[in-house]
Order: sequence, then C-alpha cells, then structure tokens
Amino acid sequence: MLNTFPILSAEEAAELIQNDQTIGFSGFTPAGSAKAIPAALAKKALREHQAGRPFKVGVLTGASTGKSLDGALAQAEAISFRTPYQSDSTLRKQINSGQVRFVDMHLSLLPQIARYGFLGPVHWAVVEAADITAGGGIVLTTSVGATNTYLNLADKILIELNSKHPASLLGMHDIFEPADPPARQEIPVYHVADRIGSPICLVDPKKIAGVVLTDLEDECAPFDPSTPVTEQIGRNVADFFIAEMKAGRIPPQFLPLQSGVGNIANAVLGALGASKEIPNFEMYTEVLQDSVVPLLESGRCSFASTSALTLSPEMMSHVTGNLNFFRHKILMRPQEISNHPEIVRRLGIVSMNTAIEVDLGGNVNSTHVMGKTMMNGIGGSGDFTRNAYISMFSCPSTAKGGKISAIVPLASHMDHSEHSVQIVATEQGIADLRGKDPHERAQLIINNCAHPDYREQLRDYLRLTKEGHEPLSLSLGLAMHRQFMRHGDMRNINWEEYR
Ligand code: COA
Repeated sequence: MLNTFPILSAEEAAELIQNDQTIGFSGFTPAGSAKAIPAALAKKALREHQAGRPFKVGVLTGASTGKSLDGALAQAEAISFRTPYQSDSTLRKQINSGQVRFVDMHLSLLPQIARYGFLGPVHWAVVEAADITAGGGIVLTTSVGATNTYLNLADKILIELNSKHPASLLGMHDIFEPADPPARQEIPVYHVADRIGSPICLVDPKKIAGVVLTDLEDECAPFDPSTPVTEQIGRNVADFFIAEMKAGRIPPQFLPLQSGVGNIANAVLGALGASKEIPNFEMYTEVLQDSVVPLLESGRCSFASTSALTLSPEMMSHVTGNLNFFRHKILMRPQEISNHPEIVRRLGIVSMNTAIEVDLGGNVNSTHVMGKTMMNGIGGSGDFTRNAYISMFSCPSTAKGGKISAIVPLASHMDHSEHSVQIVATEQGIADLRGKDPHERAQLIINNCAHPDYREQLRDYLRLTKEGHEPLSLSLGLAMHRQFMRHGDMRNINWEEYR
C-alpha cells in the first residue's frame, strides 16, 4: 500500500503547507503527536520570516503536544491560532501576550465544534501512524485524540509513518465518531472495555498527499518526584474512598476512575494502588500515565480506557515489548468518546482533577493564575467533573512557598461551578460538599482544606459576609488576590484596606 503514496522528506511535506492554513495535527499530550513535519514547518516559518514574508498557521490538536510541535512552532512564531489545550512555556507566553489567539474548550466538544465549521476549514491533517493497511486504513500510534475527525475533515492528509511504534499496535484503538444531531444515537459503551468502533481510521486514499518515514520517540516529559504534600493528598483521597465504600456510597467492586494529568494526579493514583482496602479498579480516563502501567501488570487496575498513552520512552518500550499482555488491558478511544458526558454519567465515574484555586463556595479555577494568565486550559476536567458520580478536585493548600492560598474567598476565574464540584482535597484534609448549603460549604473548606496560615483570615471574611445565600462580598471577594499583587503575599490581610 505504501508504494501508492509519494514518500516525502519532512521538509518536502512542510513545503506543501501554506501561510494562513489550518492544520489538524495528531497528538493528545505528546503521545502520538506529529513530530517531523511540524519541526520542519517551524524551520520553514523561520526562513519565510527571514525573507520578510509572513508565515503562521492555525494549530488544532487533541490536547497538548511536545517540543517538536507546540515548542518548535511557537519558538518560530509560526502559530496564529491554537485550540484546545497546550502546556508549552513559549506558547503560553505568546497566548498571554495576545500574540496567539487561543480558544480554551472542553476536549469532548472539540471534534463536534470542528465538524460544524466553527474552527474554519481544516486544510491539512498531519497524522502520525504506526501502519497503513492494505485497504488504506491508518493505524494510529499512542493516542487517538481528535485525529479521526481531522482525517475526515481535512482537504489533504500528510502521514508520518513512525517505525518507533510497531504495526502491532493494530487493535489497540477503537475509532467511533457519532453522527451529528438529529441523527445521533446513543454511544453504546456500557462497560469500560466495550469496543464500539473500528481499529483503524478509514480515509479517502486520494486525500493522502504524502508519507514521511520517521523513527522518533514520543516527547513525554518525566514527572517530578512526589513530595510530602502530594503524598499526603494521595493518602487523604485514598482514605476518603475507603470511607465511601464502608458507607456503601461506592459499591464493593468500586467505580471506574478518571484521573487528570500531572504530579498530584500521579501521587493520588500511587496511593490508591498501594491501598489494600481499595479493590482492583478500572479506569475510564483520557490520559494514561506511567503510574498506571505497574497497576495494570499487578492487576490493581484491571482495564484502562484512555485517549492517550502518555508514557515515558522507557515505559512505552516496556508496553510495546509486551503488547500481547497490554492489548487485553488498554483501549485507546477518540477524545469525543473517552470524555463523553453520556458515558461518564452512565458508568458512574469517579473523577479526580487538579485545581489552581478553589473558592469558599466550591467553585474551581483550573486554568488562569490571578484570573488572567492562562496556564494550560480546561482540558477534559469539565467533561468529567460535570457528569461524574463523584467529582473531586485536589491541590496543595498553598502555592509559591505559602505566599498564595489555593483556598480563596472568590475564584478569580471559574471553570467548574459549585454545582459540579463535590469534593475538595488538599494535604490538610477533605471537604465533602455534597448536600451542604453555601455557608456550610465555606466552613468545611476552611476547616478541612485551607492551610492553617490562612484559616483565621478566611473566617474573618466569612464574618464580614454573613448575609445572603452566598458568602460573597463584591468588594472583598478578590482582596486576597489584590493583596498578593500589592505585597507579594496573601497572608496577614487587613480586610479594611480593601473595603
Ligand atoms: N496561584 C499561582 N500559581 C499556582 C497556583 C495558584 N493558586 N496553584 C498552582 N500554581 C502553579 C504552581 O506553583 C506551579 O507553578 P510552577 O510550574 O512554576 O512550579 C504550577 O501552577 C503547577 O502546579 P502544580 O501544583 O505543580 O500542579 P500540576 O502540575 O498538577 O498542575 C494544573 C495543576 C491545574 C495547572 C493542571 O492540573 C492543569 O492544567 N489542569 C487543567 C486541565 C485538566 O485538569 N485536565 C484534566 C483532564 S486530563
């Protein structure tokens, strides 16, 4: 099949892409991201800029990507528009300075938004593949993300055929794209391991403009080692789940887990895996990190449905070296399915995501530092939080050496409202907000989750906001943030100064 398509160098492929075009890249985290063509495209952009010509493209992906995609294109100042999620430091600066237009959106919604044309025409799909089958089907690599949608929508397709990923990944993906309303029917996933689609992406071979042969590892960064704080959060979460089981609110066979990305999520999963009182569990999640692989091998995690294998190169080669075992334990789905609200609600998922700050009402900011500086994006956290059986947010009770409290009177940006957030966990403890009114929630969050350095000043805020259904002061709600901007520390606030 391969010999029916032009074999191109990455540079030749990049030459086909023109200024101002929009590209749907494969990649959900650095897992399965296109690498060689975006890196070559970044070099082309630099050449064009040196020659005095404009060169920028719109970049659509599944989620964040690696250094060869977001990193290289941002450094070349080659991105005009970006959605739905990113975590690259250069790109973050360009987004926050207004140089790059960035739309932060729920990951489950992205494919539908793209299909309806809200992101404009998709000129190219640039997709990493493990194989191209005899019938013209594409075997994806270590993620699905929105790749299936971009392959359908794009005018033309460029494939990176990456020999680092074995063709035997065939069968690890389950490609299913729902029809658009009013033709949409139920998505028939009733159990975590249900297969409902095809193992390959079927494309119109006439759209394939070329194939670039590569041999490149995914660019997944290793995690920071756990800290006493992240370990304590993990223990608090595990203890909470054990108590929920004892109270009969989680069934004895447990419920499928979704876990966010990052160091805290890793520590929480480690603690759950180590707990003897938590039974073997399944995961229905969007990202599978290193910590889950040993849990799959030991049987602590019996099956993981995900959109990406965000594994370090060592862990990835361990998985690919033992595919006969892991193909019965892991399934990769499009983000439209891994994060779909219908399935999250049906399966009764327990979702665990990370907050930047939580306010006294239980509203969560996951994205914007001091209300305006974008960190990464909402990712899949909203897809899961709004629809899970138990929706939990965890974070350290303070940031920046204690100068910032993660528990604030009013969130400076809101991603997840009090109506969706049920449990808050810090290293201090757990606040179970279910069935509590706004004033009860505020007390619980202060007493159980706030750092002791901040408890008294948060109680003072509550005393000043006794009236009304919500403990809110329009003038004082953001006073702790303003105190940080003025004095570089949220502690020891004089509320009178801000009235
Ligand atoms: N004010 C200012 N900075 C804060 C802060 C606050 N209230 N809370 C955290 N930070 C900073 C930390 O200091 C750290 O900064 P550094 O990189 O300079 O050290 C950074 O934010 C990351 O925080 P950390 O505590 O290391 O947690 P993390 O790596 O788990 O990231 C989020 C936390 C919220 C940024 C991250 O989980 C995220 O982007 N979430 C949204 C997407 C999502 O939830 N996806 C889930 C589905 S997979």
